[in-house]
Amino acid sequence: MVGLDVGTSSIKAVLGEINHINGINVLGLAQVPSSGLRKGNIVDIESTARSIDACLNELERLTGVEIMSALTGFSGISISAVSNHAVVAVGNPNYEITREDKERVLHSAQNIALPPDKTIVQVIERQYIIDGYDGVTDPVGMVGSRLEVEIVVIIAATAAIQNLQRSAQRINLHCDKIAYNQLLVAESVLTSSEKEMGVAIVDMGGGTTEISVFSQGSILSTSVLPIGGDYISKDLAIVLRTSIEDAVRIKEDCGVAAPEMARDDVIINARNIQGNDVRQVSQQLVADIISARVIEMVEMIYTELQQLTYLDKLAGGLVLTGGGAQLAGIVEVMEGYMDIPVRLGLPENIKGLVGDINIPRNSVALGALIYGFKHMEPAIVDTRAGVSSVFHKVNYWLKDLFS
Ligand SMILES: Nc1ncnc2c1ncn2[C@@H]1O[C@H](COP(=O)(O)OP(=O)(O)OP(=O)(O)O)[C@@H](O)[C@H]1O
Ligand SMILES: [Mg+2]
Repeated sequence: MVGLDVGTSSIKAVLGEINHINGINVLGLAQVPSSGLRKGNIVDIESTARSIDACLNELERLTGVEIMSALTGFSGISISAVSNHAVVAVGNPNYEITREDKERVLHSAQNIALPPDKTIVQVIERQYIIDGYDGVTDPVGMVGSRLEVEIVVIIAATAAIQNLQRSAQRINLHCDKIAYNQLLVAESVLTSSEKEMGVAIVDMGGGTTEISVFSQGSILSTSVLPIGGDYISKDLAIVLRTSIEDAVRIKEDCGVAAPEMARDDVIINARNIQGNDVRQVSQQLVADIISARVIEMVEMIYTELQQLTYLDKLAGGLVLTGGGAQLAGIVEVMEGYMDIPVRLGLPENIKGLVGDINIPRNSVALGALIYGFKHMEPAIVDTRAGVSSVFHKVNYWLKDLFS
């Protein structure tokens, strides 16, 4: 299975196989710079398609496996989540709940008035309630007269989804299965007790920051802010009068999130925009510039999170992931500001990842593997057919669920 993360800064793709003894085995991960996106939205289909193609080619080269389809993460500032609820009377005279009852109640709960340019991307069943007894995950076969469901619906701009699908079509990639990035991240970074107790995930990327609240095991609310690590790089480039590329390098190699984390004896070389002259700047100056933006972003995240939930409900605290989380000291700054525990979100739910793969930036792509495998029907691999029968099943599943 392939997990694909089409980000504003970079495209990441990962190929994994599952085996029932060792779990998920990552066979390769590729990352290439992305072009064609702004703030998580595709603004140029051709460039985006070329970037995805380059990334998948790289992954094919690394693994020797031909890639036909991918479970693709979806994000962008058009995303929102709506909670809804519906009740139906159980039709069957002996009150055994059937698949049809389940479909009927789910269908009724999805009856949400949407503006014409918006689409439901995903429906998450939070729980079923049978005759007042809550916490049921699958009601089929149970007995009761009144069936209720609570769902969360992820909504996005129709055009944004279509642009992603068109980019994939350009390179003949099947991406009939897409999933909201935060559901994928949750798979790779959260523990089940965090999800149960209440936790916020913040994925700070290059152009966007996604924020979600999970409780009682699933997503409750979400929002996407049009800010990310690129803000910091741009500021650095302007103040240091250097190129964006050099600013990114300086930020990633020597940047710290707060002035008191800078060391006096660290001196950084900054090239001028033309690239023909080098100036020396102190880490202190770099930290001052970065920290101004970090504080601004943390304030925005805090305000948004308060719109989504009461902070004291987040017994599991906040988990910060995405490339932006790789800035030295940002977890500490955030924890100081937020007044709840903050930890770094590494994609550690896949065991045995080596250092350069086990980083916050890869949380979406690796989460897609777990998500995909969880939702896949158990494949019976007969040794003669080998891997191909597994892929056959996966393809079947992709078509099945995403049609
Ligand atoms: N070591 C580091 N220190 C600071 N920032 C870093 C580091 N490594 C990566 N970043 C920043 O993380 C950002 C990219 O993160 P990521 O790859 O998660 O974004 P993306 O998924 O491409 O974008 P988006 O999610 O916004 O669409 C960039 O701004 C990059 O500079
Ligand atoms: Mg991202």
